[in-house]
Amino acid sequence: MHYKTHIYEDNIQASRAVAEVILEKSITKSNEGKMLNVALSGGSTPQQLFSLLADEYENLIPWKIINLYWVDERCVPPTDKESNFGMTYDTLLNKSFIPAENIYRIKGEDIPNNEVERYKNLLWKNLPVKNGFPVFDIILLGMGDDGHTASIFPNNLELLNSEYSVAQATHPISGQKRITLTGRTICNAEQILFLICGKSKAFVLKQIINNESDSKQFPAANIGICERIVDFYIDKEAGSLL
Ligand code: 6PG
Repeated sequence: MHYKTHIYEDNIQASRAVAEVILEKSITKSNEGKMLNVALSGGSTPQQLFSLLADEYENLIPWKIINLYWVDERCVPPTDKESNFGMTYDTLLNKSFIPAENIYRIKGEDIPNNEVERYKNLLWKNLPVKNGFPVFDIILLGMGDDGHTASIFPNNLELLNSEYSVAQATHPISGQKRITLTGRTICNAEQILFLICGKSKAFVLKQIINNESDSKQFPAANIGICERIVDFYIDKEAGSLL
């Protein structure tokens, strides 16, 4: 197992720890004269992190060297309250520290198959390639109560091993179409950070961290087979069963 668990009092403290990782990495890249390629998740948990980055890291992070991508997107327009880009815009991007040309959103309003192709090609063009897959510097992941991560759900585990870097998925309950990075793209990242908060995550997280026998049914558990440390930044509630 390659998990490292960092437990904090609450979402704010866990988010601060993740913000510090992004800060450190961005300074290193900036000193090397390189860009930092980051893929963000959506959902409710990272909202705190994005607000914190906007409020407290404006003058600390060298924003101009950051290229932003998304781990997944719901197939809705960017103005829809479900949009991951929309949420990130409202909490962070509207402060406009990051140059607009460095922001590579997944277009949830476009025909999903076409957008999968476009995003896949964009990643090929923009990012370094290793093991036949694009390489992000940092991938920020969340985890759903059902153990899904990105938009890889327990009923589409095959996306973990897809030969493509980007794929279409469907939310198993709402039927909402999604576009997601696949497992091998995620595992290819230099650094993989999970930010997981709240009591509703505790039961699944315990099974994953303890490597319990049937935990591989959870997509998030399979990211742990990556040949690198996968860091879990969690709050006390998510970690309450550990
Ligand atoms: C999404 C995601 C998804 C998310 C988890 C956790 O678009 O929904 O990127 O993988 O990280 O569902 O979401 P919450 O933070 O809302 O629990």
